[in-house]
Amino acid sequence: MHNARMSHARHTYTTGAVRFVQSYAKINLTLDVLGKRADGYHELATVMQTVDLSDTLCLTMTDDESVRVICSRPELNNDDNLALRAAQAVRQRLALTQGLTIELHKRIPIAAGLGGGSSNAATVLLALQAWWQLPLSTMDMLTIAASLGSDVPFFLSGGLALCEGRGERVTPLAAHWPASMRWLLLVKPSISVSTAAVFRSLAVHDYADGARSRAACRALQAMDELDPNDLHNSLERGVLEEYPAVAQAKADMLRAGAPYVRLSGSGPTLFAPFPDLSLAARTQQLLRAQGYEVYLSRAVYPDLKDVTFY
Ligand code: C5P
Repeated sequence: MHNARMSHARHTYTTGAVRFVQSYAKINLTLDVLGKRADGYHELATVMQTVDLSDTLCLTMTDDESVRVICSRPELNNDDNLALRAAQAVRQRLALTQGLTIELHKRIPIAAGLGGGSSNAATVLLALQAWWQLPLSTMDMLTIAASLGSDVPFFLSGGLALCEGRGERVTPLAAHWPASMRWLLLVKPSISVSTAAVFRSLAVHDYADGARSRAACRALQAMDELDPNDLHNSLERGVLEEYPAVAQAKADMLRAGAPYVRLSGSGPTLFAPFPDLSLAARTQQLLRAQGYEVYLSRAVYPDLKDVTFY
């Protein structure tokens, strides 16, 4: 897909060796943990939606045979970086030697329950498949994505989806978003949370049967309003108990005007829905004044228009 600048670009810009691409965060509307599996993971039913908080990746083909990542957050400049691992997985799978530099401008908070690393990985898979015209089927892409992390397959399609199994079984839902959630406030308490530790601290009474996720899916498909009682996250009780900063942030959001507040993923980010911008913006200001990291966001449906190349 050529962007408008392409036809006017001077020769120096038309090397075809560079791609810019956006990588979106997600929130979990619901997250039912159904039980523990023999492989150590947990069986989930979770409804996820991509939101317009995004990282920017710039991919540049290089003449050497290595893959490098250069990140605006230095703590991500290492071999565990999921964007880097996604590129390496593709190269290995297809025995490619093409060199690549990935510049990663982070805006999505790290280890926050917003899926930033998983999104970066899926974005690299999609960008390389389209750019290098890789012979990878949808199933190949899903398999590589699932090998990188439970949330990565969701980000191959993004939008609104029910994710089951470990999270890798993705059923896209109709692109309907309730009016009561037109604006989303995301609040990131200034602590980091380990997803593995949060799953480990689940108690038996935290397990759910998935009925609330199914009810939320039915309401979304029928274009009905969502019942906030169905927006349940099995991980929230443990996170609120073990991390007082998250419980405090939830109380502060409610006091500032949020109709209700839920944890996204394993946290610590909390989200609250707003039907109109004025109340959302006022609540954002109140929370910022208290020192919180707050993002005013909305649901998005990513597509290839997010790719710029020259
Ligand atoms: O798959 P991913 O690497 O993102 O998962 C991080 C950690 O979260 C896992 O190591 C596991 O401890 C936990 N997890 C889980 N059940 C899932 C997804 C993640 O227990 N369905």
